[in-house]
Amino acid sequence: MNIILLGPPGAGKGTQAKRLETERGMIQLSTGDMLRAAVAAGTALGQKAKSIMEAGQLVPDDLMIGLISERLDQDDTKNGFILDGFPRTTAQAEALDVMLEKKGLKLDYVLQLVVDDAALTGRIVGRYTCAKCGKGYHDEFEKPAIDGVCDACGSTEFKRRADDNAETVMSRLEAYHGQTAPIIPYYKQAGKLKTVDGMAEIDEVTREIKAILG
Ligand code: AP5
Ligand code: MG
Repeated sequence: MNIILLGPPGAGKGTQAKRLETERGMIQLSTGDMLRAAVAAGTALGQKAKSIMEAGQLVPDDLMIGLISERLDQDDTKNGFILDGFPRTTAQAEALDVMLEKKGLKLDYVLQLVVDDAALTGRIVGRYTCAKCGKGYHDEFEKPAIDGVCDACGSTEFKRRADDNAETVMSRLEAYHGQTAPIIPYYKQAGKLKTVDGMAEIDEVTREIKAILG
């Protein structure tokens, strides 16, 4: 099964994608994670993307479309993929349709996580991850069992994203409402769109998603 997780910054796309990976053997394709890896590695893409991401704006479509097209050709997508953070513009959505058709792949569902804007800043500003294994946590909503120790790998080092501050969140939200939300009717018309209450607790959101995917 191949799906898109769609929603504003902090909606829970990454959180739910990781759960689907563990439970269903699907692979998370997070364009944000790919870009952060490119920035950390100092590649040409990373150098172009760094300041754009720190400003909370969108990286140019041609770069993102090329990145996803190459990624979809790798073998680990064969058991199903979860697009997390792509597509984010009408041009990306249209290019995705063309590339899926060319590659003989089908999109099953587009799950829209619906969350009030007011809840998003708190979610994002409180978020951090394990510096070693990448497991995600939140100061309030998802703490490790032992304070300061990663549940998954025991590491005591954690990190926060450069764009996870209140000012950048405002620009990211603007980009979502102005450039990404307009793709929702596109998927509704295609009969692929399902909405999920992203305001519910994390486990409840997972249950709702599983009920849709079957
Ligand atoms: P990206 O990394 O995709 O960031 P984003 O879309 O802003 O989304 P987030 O990762 O912030 O949120 P999420 O929905 O994954 O939430 P999470 O599960 O972590 O993109 C970053 C940047 O890269 C963009 O700004 C852009 O510059 C660039 N970029 C990426 N893709 C691009 C593209 N296609 N085109 C152009 N540019 C692109 O949850 C957040 C927190 O809330 C966590 O701490 C979690 O524990 C908590 N939480 C989750 N669910 C719940 C819940 N139900 N209740 C309470 N807390 C919850
Ligand atoms: Mg994410």
